[in-house]
Amino acid sequence: MFETVTPPEPDKIIRLMGMFAADPRPDKVDLGVGVYRSPDGRTPVMAAVKAAERGIWERQETKGYVSLSGDPGYLDAMRRLILGDAVPAARVAACGTPGGTGAVRQVLETVRRLRPEATVWISDPTWPNHPAIIDHLGQARRTYRYYDPETGGLDRDGMLADLAEAKAGDLILLHGCCHNPTGADLTRADWQAVADLCARTGAIPFVDTAYQGFGDGIEADAAGVRLLAATLPEVLIAASCSKNFGLYRERVGAVLIMTDAKAAADGVLAGMNRQNYAFPPDHGARVVQDILSDAGLEAQWRAELDEMRTVMQGNRAALAAALREATGSDRFGYLGAHRGMFSLIGARPEQVDILRETHGIYLVGDGRMNVAGLTPGVIPRVARALAEVLA
Ligand code: LMR
Repeated sequence: MFETVTPPEPDKIIRLMGMFAADPRPDKVDLGVGVYRSPDGRTPVMAAVKAAERGIWERQETKGYVSLSGDPGYLDAMRRLILGDAVPAARVAACGTPGGTGAVRQVLETVRRLRPEATVWISDPTWPNHPAIIDHLGQARRTYRYYDPETGGLDRDGMLADLAEAKAGDLILLHGCCHNPTGADLTRADWQAVADLCARTGAIPFVDTAYQGFGDGIEADAAGVRLLAATLPEVLIAASCSKNFGLYRERVGAVLIMTDAKAAADGVLAGMNRQNYAFPPDHGARVVQDILSDAGLEAQWRAELDEMRTVMQGNRAALAAALREATGSDRFGYLGAHRGMFSLIGARPEQVDILRETHGIYLVGDGRMNVAGLTPGVIPRVARALAEVLA
């Protein structure tokens, strides 16, 4: 069956991970894949996660199946974390998924099944797996303008002009916060404009929220999705706990759907889980559930998350300052205004190659930098290399 098959090319993030792993240089710097690193260069297991895992190890008496949609306690905790009290629980259908990617896939597959004629609108640029999954499912897609490289900020007018062409039932894929790859986010007024546009056109927002807590804090980072959920009849959400709980390899995600037809939507999601992988993974989801249902553990987790955000913002400020000194200009000042792990640094693909081959500095081919991969020791070297190569 496979003799004549050409395997698909891995996407640019996965390819880069392979190149980095194969590079023998001891001083190589990984600013590629979106994984948090502490100032000493580790991706630690959070203390609140360790404590919750210890509790599970001590108390759990069975590894029997839970339910097709995952533990209702986990789904309720995720609903409260993401939506607060923006919508009544009776309007939110949900299911657990293997990671945020599993959630994106389940939402898009649901739409493929129920609305095959819908177009999915994605920002230009976006996370490479968005178009890849949409294409894999055979759904139509279009892009909307998003980023203005001149200002390093949102191209609001371009975005709203393009999205005005969305038809009723089309999906508008938005990043809840910490836009991947640009780092440029919507303000409250921008979210309101998107809500108004959806109300006018009948397009349905689909919010991918993978970095809640990495931008300005748990509540602030959810303000956009809560605004949509409170004002529109239907909102789809794909959520990930990979980054904010540091549970990358455990694959913890969830789909939330705001709808007046909760029972039907719950049934569709459970059926989709059944056909794709039956039961979603439980261990990481249980960790999240246990943390969010214990005041002490939750406070510990929030403090650790605040610390991670502070480190990333510190990295941004330190790199912007080092670049100011190295270039004698404020050209990279926007780094400080961006939020989350990522920023587009404005490097062309050939400059990304030079940074990698000559300086051992790994960025994604579109010039995306993971600022969480910086450590105080490498910032001066990275700034010098960027100033030289991007001059
Ligand atoms: C990233 O964008 O680097 C992360 O979300 C990891 C991934 O799966 O691509």
